[in-house]
Amino acid sequence: MSDPLRLGIAGLGTVGAGVVKIVRRKAELLEARTGRPVTISAVSARTRDKDRGVSLADYSWEDDPVALATRGDVDVFVELMGGSDGPAKAATEAALAAGKDVVTANKAMLAIHGQALAEAAEAAGRVLRFEAAVAGGIPVIKSLTEGLAGNDLTRVMGVMNGTCNYILTRMESAGLSYDTVFDEANQLGYLEADPTLDVGGIDAAHKLALLAAIAFGTRVDFDGVEIEGIERISIDDIRRARDLGFRIKLLGVAQMTGRGLETRMSPCLVPASSPIGQLEGPTNMCVLEGDAVGQIVLRGAGAGEGPTASAVMSDVLDIARGTRVSTFGVPAARLAHATPARTATPAPYYLRMELKDRPGALAQIATVLGEAGISIDRMRQYKHAADTAPVLIVTHKTARDALDAALEAMPGTGVLAGEVVALRIESV
Ligand code: HSE
Repeated sequence: MSDPLRLGIAGLGTVGAGVVKIVRRKAELLEARTGRPVTISAVSARTRDKDRGVSLADYSWEDDPVALATRGDVDVFVELMGGSDGPAKAATEAALAAGKDVVTANKAMLAIHGQALAEAAEAAGRVLRFEAAVAGGIPVIKSLTEGLAGNDLTRVMGVMNGTCNYILTRMESAGLSYDTVFDEANQLGYLEADPTLDVGGIDAAHKLALLAAIAFGTRVDFDGVEIEGIERISIDDIRRARDLGFRIKLLGVAQMTGRGLETRMSPCLVPASSPIGQLEGPTNMCVLEGDAVGQIVLRGAGAGEGPTASAVMSDVLDIARGTRVSTFGVPAARLAHATPARTATPAPYYLRMELKDRPGALAQIATVLGEAGISIDRMRQYKHAADTAPVLIVTHKTARDALDAALEAMPGTGVLAGEVVALRIESV
């Protein structure tokens, strides 16, 4: 019989417990698929005495994740603690230095330290894999590094924060305010301990930075991601966008342009009839575009015990089978330094404003847009409430700089009652 692949698992929250369950319950299947038994030698977590819905009695216990990571009876260190630094990073580095392969679900750690850790893995002749770090159960890392390896990737997009998609779709379906649905999401346990990671777009931006590195062969550049959260999206915008045939999504877009690498995580309008437009609830979607393959759409659960443990096991089973892929698809030394694009690719924009009921008000706004070189595609004015009326404008494609110039000039017209909302319309 072949030698078993022995795991050491640090972090026994939802995902860790899910991994233990799969290893215990599917032992025969895992061995049949890889040709060797997959076992667990030891585990580690902050609290030992806690019911995790699965027995840990067969495994050694370590209080210290670094001690776990360096044990002689561990071949693969499975890091499921989270946090960009601290114990997760220390234990990952210790595991690699001790000659262990590492599987992690830690997007924050990789988004910030991915290059150094990939280099450390290669220097030690080990692999560092992270399928579970991006879009939960969706095998997007494997799709990019292996399934689409023969393509020049042209664009990668994703709705990769289920909490935000839940909030936006629930606001629309129930006609509720952002604050009300945020509280609901909190009660459902969807929000991270620090909710700004979700609603501020940071969690999703970590994931986008990782996908961009693989897709474009560049060093992970989280700082280069332009990030805007969903906190300012109102039910008014969701309704008005729907009237125009769009839905609002926290959308990540990465593409290599002549101006550099463009990576954006921001609320965008997308056609309601598109796959991304139809994405409901806490589900994730990744859209990958390659020169040979065209467009691939992957949809599935972005979080939760089963889906995330499924992704962890995908990496574990690759290691058991002897499939060894560089962390970001090419050796770390060959990853190029990314130059972030300073301006976004031109796009149409949705503008919503409240205009005073005054002769020439619309004309003044149209003039400001015209002077900034922005052409109007569609315009809609709704019924007046008292002496103001909501106006929607969809522009033709325009550069963000031109739009910013127009937005800056608009208050000077004196016809605005309130702030102008501007959201990019992404062609998906
Ligand atoms: N908080 C994330 C989400 C899950 O809502 O999708 C883990 O990244």
